[in-house]
Amino acid sequence: EAKKSPLHFLHIDDYDKKTILHILERAIEVKSLLKSGDRSFQPFKGKSIAMIFTKPSMRTRVSFETGFYLLGGHAIYLGPNDIQMGKREETRDISRVLSGYNDLLMGRVFAHQDILDLAKFSSVPVINGLTDYNHPCQIMADALTIMEHGGKLEGVKVVYVGDGNNIVHSWLRLAAVVPIHFVCACPQGFEPDQRTVEAAKRAGVSTIEIVHDPKAAVVGANFVYSDVWASMGQKDEATFRMQKFRGFQVDEALMALAGPQAYFMHCLPAERGVEVTDGVVEAPYSIVFPQAENRMHAQNAIMLHVLGL
Ligand code: CP
Ligand code: NVA
Repeated sequence: EAKKSPLHFLHIDDYDKKTILHILERAIEVKSLLKSGDRSFQPFKGKSIAMIFTKPSMRTRVSFETGFYLLGGHAIYLGPNDIQMGKREETRDISRVLSGYNDLLMGRVFAHQDILDLAKFSSVPVINGLTDYNHPCQIMADALTIMEHGGKLEGVKVVYVGDGNNIVHSWLRLAAVVPIHFVCACPQGFEPDQRTVEAAKRAGVSTIEIVHDPKAAVVGANFVYSDVWASMGQKDEATFRMQKFRGFQVDEALMALAGPQAYFMHCLPAERGVEVTDGVVEAPYSIVFPQAENRMHAQNAIMLHVLGL
């Protein structure tokens, strides 16, 4: 029988601009409802989500679990030792079994292929909660935070300083559908994936620059963005990377170069004193905590969208 394939959320540019903006508008709506204390909106009543984690997490785990619960549903956390994806059992078997019990799956995994496999074999929507390649839920939350603090998303200048990692890939994929000015300032040899850069440029929607001088890059930025230099799975390279990334710390002087209009953003967790100073995280222009809070609201809207609610 021909079954309709579920709607997944794996990469931001799997969706068009209209849909992305619609999800963000929905996030604002449901956020204000939840913030008012209203708990009458229970679209996930009678539904469950299974969340597979092969990496550590605070924000992703708690924001998905609490968000799904607040809207009436039940969330199940499966930690690294529970399923042992690919070791105890193959991903394609896990996907088919879990999607038989649940209305939604979320995965935080190492290899990007694992989230693609989960989606391929699942009979229910799969949401990407971070892979080595990308982190779309984070950048949706960031876009929401930018709308709230900058008044708009389109046309803003975002300057990312650091490693060309999963966060950057999701920024590039957002820039492929929503017009922004996105600059990644990274050390030589730590550029984002070439094919992703080219695809984002080819989309012709945004101004995209990959550069190596953070001081020149940040001037006029509306948002300066930082992330760890050694991502999960690279922690043994921390010392080596610390040397390679010298000059890429976001400190008070760099924020001053950016200008008084610039906000500071970080997906967290942050290593204070490494990629960012304590003073910048604590400064009035830092919006890292509203950003973290928005994970829940952006994801609630993503879950509503993929469930067709
Ligand atoms: N930003 C983010 O994804 O945080 P966690 O790793 O704590 O989930
Ligand atoms: N680049 C970081 C993001 C953490 C939310 C990592 O992958 O560890």
